[in-house]
Amino acid sequence: MNKVYLMTPGPTPVPDKIRRAESQEIIHHRTKEHSEIFKRVSDNLKPIFKTKNPVLTFASSGTGAMEGSVINTLSSGDKVLIPIVGKFSERWVEICEAYGVEVVSVEVEWGNVVEPEVIKEHLDNDPDIKAVFTTLCETSAGVVCPIKEYGEIIKNRPNTILVVDAISGLGACDIQNDEWGVDICVSGSQKGLMMPPGLAFASVSDKARGFIEHSNLPKYYFDWKKALKSWEKADTPYTPAVSLIVALDEALKMLNEEGIDNVLARHSVLADAMRAAMKSMGLELLSSNYPSNTVTAVKVPDGVDGIELKNVLDKKYGIKIAGGQSHLKGKIFRVAHLGYMGEFDVITAISAIELTLKGLGYSVELGSGVRAAEEVFLK
Ligand SMILES: Cc1ncc(COP(=O)(O)O)c(C=O)c1O
Repeated sequence: MNKVYLMTPGPTPVPDKIRRAESQEIIHHRTKEHSEIFKRVSDNLKPIFKTKNPVLTFASSGTGAMEGSVINTLSSGDKVLIPIVGKFSERWVEICEAYGVEVVSVEVEWGNVVEPEVIKEHLDNDPDIKAVFTTLCETSAGVVCPIKEYGEIIKNRPNTILVVDAISGLGACDIQNDEWGVDICVSGSQKGLMMPPGLAFASVSDKARGFIEHSNLPKYYFDWKKALKSWEKADTPYTPAVSLIVALDEALKMLNEEGIDNVLARHSVLADAMRAAMKSMGLELLSSNYPSNTVTAVKVPDGVDGIELKNVLDKKYGIKIAGGQSHLKGKIFRVAHLGYMGEFDVITAISAIELTLKGLGYSVELGSGVRAAEEVFLK
C-alpha cells in the first residue's frame, strides 16, 4: 500500500466534504434551486477575490478564462505588454498571438520578476498599450509578481487594463483586486479552491467592462457580454458544470468560514516552513527574492538526478511533486503547499525529500529539514 500525497501545484487535494457535495444527485440548471446556489457561489467568490465586482464562472480549465480575457477586451491590431517570468506568462503571449494581437514582451530569467519601473517605462513610452497581462504566482518558477505595484502604475491610465492570471496564486498569495486596481483576475478551481479541475473564474472591473463593450476579436462560447448578462440573473448562457458548482458552494463555505486572510496566513506559514527546511538541508531555492506561497521551487543539488528524485518520491513514498518545466526540466523540483494543506502535509513531504536525497547519495542529516519546519511552526 502506498498512500498518495498530492503536493503538486494543481490539481490539489480535495476535502471529503467537497467530494461528497460533488457526488450529489444532479439538479437541472434552469431552476430556482440552481439559481440560488449559483447566486450564493457568485457572492461567496467575492471575498476570496477581494472584490465587489462580478466574478464570472465558466466550465473550463483556467486557460479558458485567460483566453476569454484576451478575446473580450481587445480588438484586432491592439498592442499589449506581457512580462514573461516563466512558462505560464508565455501562455499569455501564445493566446494573444493566436488572435493577432501585437505583443511587446519583457523577459527575465526564471526565478526573477519584471520590476514595476520597467512596466512604467514601457507604458510611458507607448500609450497605445491596451493591456498588461501578468501572473500572480508563476507556477513554473515559484515566484510571485508585484501585482500591487503594477496596479499603482496602471490604475489611473484610462486606456490600459491590468489582467492577472491568479490560477495558482488565488487563496495562497494575497491579491486585493479592487484595492490594487486589478481589472480582470482569472483563476481555476483545482488549486487554492480545493476543488477538482473544471471551473474557471474571472473578476471583471467597471474599467474592463468598458473594454468589453468595444472589443471586436472573435468569440462565441467565451463571450463575456453574454456571460455578464446571465450573471446578473444568477444564470449562465450555457449548461454550467452543475456538480462542480454544488461542490464549489461547499468549498467557498469552508474557505469563508476560515476567512481569506487566515487562509493566506496559513499558506504563508507553510511556505516559510518549506523554504526553511530546504535551506537547512543545504538546498538552494530558485527564487530567493520573490518566492511564492503556492509552490516552492528548489534547485536539484549537484550529483543528484532530478528526474529520479521525483520518481523515487512518487514510487517509494507516494509523494507527488512537480519537476522543472522547459529548460529547467531535471534541474529544479517544485513542492506545492496549496489548498487543503496543513503542517503535517508539509512535514511529510519534507521527511520524504530527506529520505529520497539521502538514498540518492546526497549528504543530508536526517531530521534537519523537519526540525527547521517545526521551528517555523513553533513561532
Ligand atoms: C499560473 C498558471 N497559469 C495557468 C495555468 C493553466 O491552468 P489550467 O491548466 O487550469 O488551464 C496554470 C496551471 O498550472 C498555472 O499554474
